[in-house]
Amino acid sequence: MRGILYYFSGTGNTKWIGDRFKESFSRRKIEVDLANIESIEEFEIDNYDFMILGTPIYAELEPKIVDDFIEKLPVNKNNMKVIIYSTQAAKTASAVSILKLRLEKKGYKIMSESMFQMSNNYYFGVGKKTEKHTFNVIKENAIKQVNGVVKSFINNKNTRVHLNYFRIAGAKISSKIYRKLLPKMSKNFTSTEECIKCGLCLRNCPKGNITFENSVAVFHSKCMLCMRCIHICPVNAIRYKGKMIEQTQNGMIKNLILK
Ligand SMILES: Cc1cc2nc3c(=O)[nH]c(=O)nc-3n(C[C@H](O)[C@H](O)[C@H](O)COP(=O)(O)O)c2cc1C
Repeated sequence: MRGILYYFSGTGNTKWIGDRFKESFSRRKIEVDLANIESIEEFEIDNYDFMILGTPIYAELEPKIVDDFIEKLPVNKNNMKVIIYSTQAAKTASAVSILKLRLEKKGYKIMSESMFQMSNNYYFGVGKKTEKHTFNVIKENAIKQVNGVVKSFINNKNTRVHLNYFRIAGAKISSKIYRKLLPKMSKNFTSTEECIKCGLCLRNCPKGNITFENSVAVFHSKCMLCMRCIHICPVNAIRYKGKMIEQTQNGMIKNLILK
C-alpha cells in the first residue's frame, strides 16, 4: 500500500502534521509521499492506493488554493480512501466537513476528518499568541492524534467529528467575507530598509504577490494572507499594519521546502 499526502502550508504547521502522518504510516511499513499543492503540475493519483489532504484554516475554512486544487483533482472511479485534516489555532474548524462533501462528489471515500490544534500564525490579527510551553503540549497531543487516525484508517474504521449545522453555515459566510477583503488586506504588508533583498519572500510567496521595485519589496493585491513572508524573513523586515511582528513560526517554517 502507498499513499499520497497533498498539502498546502503557509508557515509549516500543516506540513509538520503531514510529516507526522508519513512517519506514522512508515512505522507500519506503508509509504506516504508528500506533495505541496503549490507546485503540482500533474496528478499521479493512479499510482497510489489512498490519499491524505491537509489544509490550514483561514476564517474557519480552507484557503482558495485548496479549493482550486480540488477542482483540478481527477474524478476517482475506485472510491479511493481519503484522510482529510486541517490545522488551526482553535480545537476545531469547519473546513473538513465542507471538503468531505466536495471530495465525495468526485468519487472519493472519506475515512477521516481530523482537526489539529496548532500554533496561531496570525495571532496579531485574530485570537492570541500560542505560548512555547503550550505549543509543546499541543504537538505531543497532535502526534497521538495522528497515530490514532492512522490506526483507525488501517483497521478500516472512520474517524469523524460532527460539527453543528449552524457552525458550518456561519463558516461559509465568514470565509466569503474574508476572501472578499483579501485585496484590501494585502495593503497591510510593507517592508523596511532593514530588508537585505535576499528574495526569500519573493521566491516563496504562494501567490507571486511580492516584487522588488527600486530595491524595495512591494506587496501587490493578490495576497492570500498565509503569513509566510512575515514569519520567513531572515531579518524580520516585513511589517503588518506598520508593526513589527514577533516571528513565532521559526520552529515550524523550517519544515517547509523553500526555494
Ligand atoms: C488569515 C488567517 C486566518 C486564520 N483564521 C483562523 C480561524 O478562523 N480559526 C483558527 O482556529 N485559526 C485560524 N488561523 C490560524 C491558522 O489556521 C493556523 O495557525 C494554521 O495551523 C497555520 O497553518 P500553516 O502553518 O500550515 O500555514 C488563521 C490564520 C491566518 C493566517
